Amino acid sequence: MSEDPALLAHFEATIAADQRVEPRDWVPEGYRRTMVRQIAQHAHSEIIGMQPEDNWITRAPSLRRKAILLAKVQDEAGHGLYLYSAAETLGADRAELTEMLVTGRQKYSSIFNYPTLSFADVGVIGWLVDGAAICNQVPLCRSSYGPYARAMIRVCKEESFHQRQGYELLMTMMSGSDAQREMVQESVNRWWWPSLMMFGPPDGDSPNTAQSMAWKIKRHTNDELRQRFVDMSVPQAEKLGVSFPDPDLRWNAERGHYDFGAIDWSELKRVISGNGPCNAQRVAHRRKAHEDGAWVRDAAAAHAAKHARREAAA
Ligand SMILES: [Fe+2]
Ligand SMILES: [Fe+2]
Repeated sequence: MSEDPALLAHFEATIAADQRVEPRDWVPEGYRRTMVRQIAQHAHSEIIGMQPEDNWITRAPSLRRKAILLAKVQDEAGHGLYLYSAAETLGADRAELTEMLVTGRQKYSSIFNYPTLSFADVGVIGWLVDGAAICNQVPLCRSSYGPYARAMIRVCKEESFHQRQGYELLMTMMSGSDAQREMVQESVNRWWWPSLMMFGPPDGDSPNTAQSMAWKIKRHTNDELRQRFVDMSVPQAEKLGVSFPDPDLRWNAERGHYDFGAIDWSELKRVISGNGPCNAQRVAHRRKAHEDGAWVRDAAAAHAAKHARREAAA
């Protein structure tokens, strides 16, 4: 689509006035592509993100824990479907997006490529992984694309339930036996650094940030959000009685923030490029679920076609 100067001026005025861009509005092709990619990656992350925790649903230690975990994992499915719908308002095709996911052409958050080795991981994922997701997503409630921003409002409400259930689970374990406390600490040791990587590469190495900020898709840089998450998490860890595996983590009174150690960016690159501990397993599982569901999609399409035919005949 060629850029009509009047349409472009309208788009730019909408962004400058902090108004929302809606599906009826013309947008530059770059904005549309960036938005579809971001929403699709987010949707894929919600869907793939069910897998690590699904591992513990049948082994939750009590009916109460099982009910909480089931509800949480179902929420994530809902987030994924909600977001695919938001992507469709930009002309994306849901079947195509799923195809891109199962063929490895579109990414999802690298955090879900780590295994869940103990039940404490359910608590730590809620606390740190959903916590990091909240840090990322609260500013997205003011993102310039209306359907995405509105989706984030609801998603963030549910994410805060996820974070609380995780923290409450860890509180319970920390007031249990030494073995339970050790299990929590061991889990925190594994998840802390990957959680910090959830905010993406450092600002100097994040080529799309400037454009996304100019379009008000993004409101803060990766490093700003990462710092916010560290500052928020340290007092929570102290209250819980666990430590983070970082000898350089300390309060910096001058900056008014916690300093923290260097992140191993080669690990993030390795995991993003498909070589994390569970990448192949996660995508294979999703592909199989998609193939197993083919008959449901076929049946629904046949049913809709039959009704359309009958209506046309009537
Ligand atoms: Fe979610
Ligand atoms: Fe969540």
